[in-house]
Order: sequence, then C-alpha cells, then structure tokens
Amino acid sequence: MSPSGSEHTAYADAYAASVRDPAAFWLRAASAVDWSVPPSRALDDSRAPLYGWFPDGRLNITVNALDRHVAAGHGDRAALVYDSAMLGTVRTYTYAELLREVELFAGVLKGLGVTAGERVIIYLPMVPQAVVAMLACARIGAVHSVVFGGFAPKELAARIDDARPAAVVTATGGIEPSRRVEYLPAVAAALEAAEHRVPHVVVQHRDGFAAALADYRDHGAAWHDWEELAAAAQPAPPVDVASTDPLYILYTSGTTGAPKGVVRDTGGYAVAMAWSMRNIYGVGEGDTMLTASDVGWVVGHSYIVYGPLIAGATTVLYEGKPVGTPDAGAFWRLVEQHRVAVMFTAPTALRAIRKADPEASLLAGRDVSALRTLFVAGERLDPDTYAWAGRILGVPVVDNWWQTETGWPIAANPVGLEPLPLKAGSPSVPVPGYAVRILDALGSPVGPGTEGNIALGLPLPPGTLATLWGNDDRYVASYLEQFPGHYATGDSGYLDDDGYLFVMGRTDDVINVSGHRLSTGAMEQVLGSHPAVAECAVIGVADELKGQRPSGYVVLKHGADITEERLAAELVGMVRAQIGPVADFREVRVVEALPKTRSGKILRKTMRQIADGKAYSVPSTIEDPAVIEALLPFLRPGR
Ligand code: COA
Ligand code: AMP
Repeated sequence: MSPSGSEHTAYADAYAASVRDPAAFWLRAASAVDWSVPPSRALDDSRAPLYGWFPDGRLNITVNALDRHVAAGHGDRAALVYDSAMLGTVRTYTYAELLREVELFAGVLKGLGVTAGERVIIYLPMVPQAVVAMLACARIGAVHSVVFGGFAPKELAARIDDARPAAVVTATGGIEPSRRVEYLPAVAAALEAAEHRVPHVVVQHRDGFAAALADYRDHGAAWHDWEELAAAAQPAPPVDVASTDPLYILYTSGTTGAPKGVVRDTGGYAVAMAWSMRNIYGVGEGDTMLTASDVGWVVGHSYIVYGPLIAGATTVLYEGKPVGTPDAGAFWRLVEQHRVAVMFTAPTALRAIRKADPEASLLAGRDVSALRTLFVAGERLDPDTYAWAGRILGVPVVDNWWQTETGWPIAANPVGLEPLPLKAGSPSVPVPGYAVRILDALGSPVGPGTEGNIALGLPLPPGTLATLWGNDDRYVASYLEQFPGHYATGDSGYLDDDGYLFVMGRTDDVINVSGHRLSTGAMEQVLGSHPAVAECAVIGVADELKGQRPSGYVVLKHGADITEERLAAELVGMVRAQIGPVADFREVRVVEALPKTRSGKILRKTMRQIADGKAYSVPSTIEDPAVIEALLPFLRPGR
C-alpha cells in the first residue's frame, strides 16, 4: 500500500515509475531544463559502479538559472533579495540585474585566464557576491568550491591543495554577532600553508575590517579588487559544457581528517533541482523561498542558489542568525517583509528560537500568511520541535533527509507532487529515484520496524555525487564497497509498515553540531598532536539545543606536567585555530584510560551510549572491562 493509503496516487505512481525504469523517468524530467544539445539517453552505466547522467546532453546551468527567465520577459522579477540583519539593509536584484552581475564577474574570471574545468575557491560570507561568484564560474565552465567562513586557514589550505584552484574569491570579512571575522589574514595564512600556488585572489571590499587589500599583495598570488576588475571587464557569454562535466566540488567531513570533495555534475543536477523544486518544495515562478542556511553548505548550494533560480522563483539570502540579530523574531520578520511562501531551516535554529521565545510572542502581530510550508533538514527533527513549530506557525512542518553527497532529498514529503500525511519523527517517504533499503551488518534486507543501515540501490538518481574529486577509488571504498550494489549513507534507521523512513543517527564518527557536519576524527587528530596527550577520543554527545556537541577525552603521556584546566584551554584553542570556531569544541576531560578492544580499537560507540544515558553494550572483545567502570563518572557527570 502507498503511504497515502491508496494504490494509485501521484506519489506512488511517480515512485513506481522511477524504480521500474529510472532512465525513462529521468529523461522525461530532463525536459524541464533548457539544453543546447538535448540528451538522447539518460543513463551512462559504462563505468559502473560509477554512473553518469545524460551523457550526450550539453548545457550551461546559468542559462537555466538566469538567461531563460530574462528571455521569457521576466527580467524585472526579483531573483535575489539580500537581507542583512548584520547591516540592517535589504537589496533586491532582478533577474536582469543578477544576470548582468554574473556576466561581468564571469568576464573578470576569464580575464584572469580561468578556463573551463579549472577550479575556483569561493570563501565568502553571506553576501550576494557569493551567489554571483558561483554562477560566474558556472557560466564559463569553471568548477566552484565554496568553503564555509567558519573554517580555519588550515582547513582552507587542505581544500586548496586538493582542488588546486586557479583563483580564490574572497571578501575583507564576515560579520558574526559577537565579532568581525577578518578573512584576508585567514586567506593569506591558508596560501602560506598550502603547497599549491594560487595565481589569483579576488577580494570583495566590505567596510569595517582592519585588513585591507593593500596589505596583501604577496603570498605567491596576485591580489585584485573585485570592483576594479569588474569595471574593466567584458560580459561573458555562457560556455556550453557536457552534462557530465563537474559544476562544483563541495568538501564535507568524513571519518578521517581529510575532507571529502563531493563532485556534482552539471546536467543531472539541473534536472534534480528543477524536479525537486516543483515536486518536493512546491515552488515555482513568482514564489519566494527563504532558505536560512549558508552558501557554504549543500543546503545553500541547492536551495538558496541553484534550485530557486532554476525554478524562476525569488530567493532570500539572509545574512543573520535565527536569534540575537536582533531577536528570536528574525525569521518571522523575514517571512512578513518578503512574503515568503516556503521557508527552509535547520531544527537547531527552531530550538534556539523556542528557547529564547517559548510562546512565540515575537510572531504575534507579524503577517506570515504568505507562508505555505516550513521545511527542515540537516539533522533529526525531534517530535517536540516539530510539534512546537507546527503549532505556532499553523503550516505543515516538513522534515527532509539528505546529505552533501546526494545534493537533494533522499526522503521527504513530496508536497509539490502530493502532500502525504506527516508523521512526527520521520522525514516521510523515499523520494522518487532513490531505492531506499534497510540492511543488516551483512547486507541482508531487514523488515519493517527493524533498525539497520540505510543504503540506496544503485544507480543513484541524477544530481547526486558523481565521485570524490580526483579520487574514484576513495569514492568506491567509502560508499560502494560495504554493501555491493548499494551506496551506504552512513545513517541508520528503519522503515515502518507504511513505508515511512525514520532516521536515527550516524553509524560512523561523523557528528552533527547545530546542523553543521563535523568529523570527530579530525578533532582527534588535533588533540593527538598536543605534546602532553598520549591518546584521545572525541564523541558526539546529545545536546538539547545543538543536537550534538563534541566532547573530548584524553589520556596524558607518562610524566606530562600540565593541569587539566590548562590542557583543556590549550586543546580548545587548538581545535578552534586548526578546524575553526564552527567545530564548537569546548569540552575536554582527562581520564586514566580509554576503553578498547583487544585489537586496539577505541569503543567510541559504547562511550556515546553511556554519555547519552542509553543502555550500552560492551563488546566481548573489550581489553579491560574495568576501564568502562572507571570512565562512568566522566561520561555521565552529575548522575
Ligand atoms: N564565519 C565565522 N565564524 C562562524 C561562522 C561563519 N560563517 N558561523 C559560525 N561561526 C562561529 C560563531 O561565531 C561561533 O563562534 P564563537 O565560538 O566565537 O561564538 C561558533 O562558530 C559556533 O557558531 P554556531 O554553531 O553558529 O553557534 P551559535 O551558538 O553562535 O548559534 C545557532 C547557534 C543555533 C543559532 C546556529 O548554530 C544556527 O543558526 N544554526 C543553524 C545552522 C544551519 O542552518 N545549518 C545549515 C544546515 S541546513
Ligand atoms: P550534511 O552532509 O552536512 O547535509 O549532513 C548529512 C547528515 O546529516 C546525514 O547523513 C544525517 O546524519 C544528518 N541529517 C541531515 N538531514 C537529516 C534529517 N532530516 N534527519 C536526520 N538526520 C539528518
């Protein structure tokens, strides 16, 4: 039976068609995209288990996001509304204006010698230039890689060395509620630390920052002022690329310190964006969408930038926080002021608003009648927050589950196609195109109600990762080997009797702090580099506000002469300096020993279960059960 209770519904029919004949399903969907050479076939399986979509199609994605709307007579329609709570300003770009900005900056990049296939790293705060730079790269066929501003220079350097960019595009700084974040010293430090020599740095000037372009004329690169170059640039026409050519690389945390460069193709992504905007989010021409994420994350790529613009909608780019800029009514102000029809945020933002304003008094008096649906993703939506948001807003609150790797939802309530009943705690049903299966440790399917590894049958639909940048082997080893014929999501969960998916958490050492994906392995690498630390473990423990918070446990080297307080302060400072403030690493405990198996593997899962107050399992392979006993007071302080 289908989740909506009848055999033939729009969702059930679409889902059945997508699994029966994926190629035919997606070739039909491809007609929503303007191609310079329309594809004659959908799926290229000649390199399975690596797949390509629309192998003989050619297009430019910015034609779909901009030119075609202008050509259709919608040049005066708002494309992008930049609303900065940090500056107290609002600026609207029409489709014609945004196209002009993109053409010009594409001309700037071309003028610097950037060519199709070369990479450009974008390290910008939430300003319109971030969107312009992304689209300008796409216009000339260059591959953008946006790096979130909360990462430290070392993380930026790691991405520079992996992507080997022809240019870095940045600004003088970003604005956080508590401080101004100077970007130029961070970029300079990253260029110093990286082995790859970046020929060009383009800087968008923002007032109010100490460091100026004039101070940074070195570090092996030529530094340029954005406005100066733009004033002299020629607008660049769109360059046709193959559907399978990479559009962007987006780095995400894996279980080790080395970030994974998720590669997104062009044509498959354009089709997935067009399909999901219409069928999942129910957003089309003339609608306004507010996605309160950051362009540095996948949600920002797909549903601040590409999705809404391909759909011909208006996207709101919000520079601000859910609370404190100036208060917990910020989102409701945005919805009222910009007549937002569809909003997208992370559960942690809703929890922060609820904590500051439990009765939503700041919503009273606001006209939010334009709002149709609130979507949330990034971490599990707990039933309490789901119920609260639904009650105060009076609109459906729709959880959707996906990952940087997939680029768009794996499970969602397909509101645009057919709204299905909602269930608290579930992101609803598998999205057409995704063969969601729950597998046990040996790869055998388990029945409804039984928790297991969530795996996706291959091929994945269009728009999902093509590979990891420059490393097909790592892609196969990380995702495709565990369950042959499947992509392993790294999440565990179960399907209920109605086919609804419940996502319970990660099976690996990736954690989710305030909707930000982080690697405990990367944090352990930093802690382990301290001269007083013999060994360490970082686990994600449940946190009421942030979903999870990282918690570190260190064993001192024999004879190490340092107080716990000083060591903790040094380690917190090191993680902040080497990974970034976004890691939000604040907790360290010194312990006598860490629990391990006889082969030396640290029992992080057991530690996590204890810290979360759950029933915990101790494997029979444990080296010394007494270590667990000794750890209990540290893992559950105050209990
Ligand atoms: N540049 C530089 N620093 C940044 C940053 C950026 N773009 N974003 C965050 N940081 C810093 C913060 O300033 C803070 O630094 P501090 O330790 O000096 O205070 C640190 O990183 C942690 O920030 P954050 O995780 O934002 O915590 P917070 O307590 O400041 O705010 C929330 C809590 C819930 C309001 C906030 O995390 C939030 O809005 N989360 C939603 C996340 C989201 O939308 N994710 C996208 C997935 S859909
Ligand atoms: P990211 O790649 O940053 O989008 O993080 C992806 C991971 O975040 C997933 O593998 C999940 O662990 C978690 N996640 C994202 N959205 C959800 C959701 N709606 N419900 C539960 N977990 C989620």
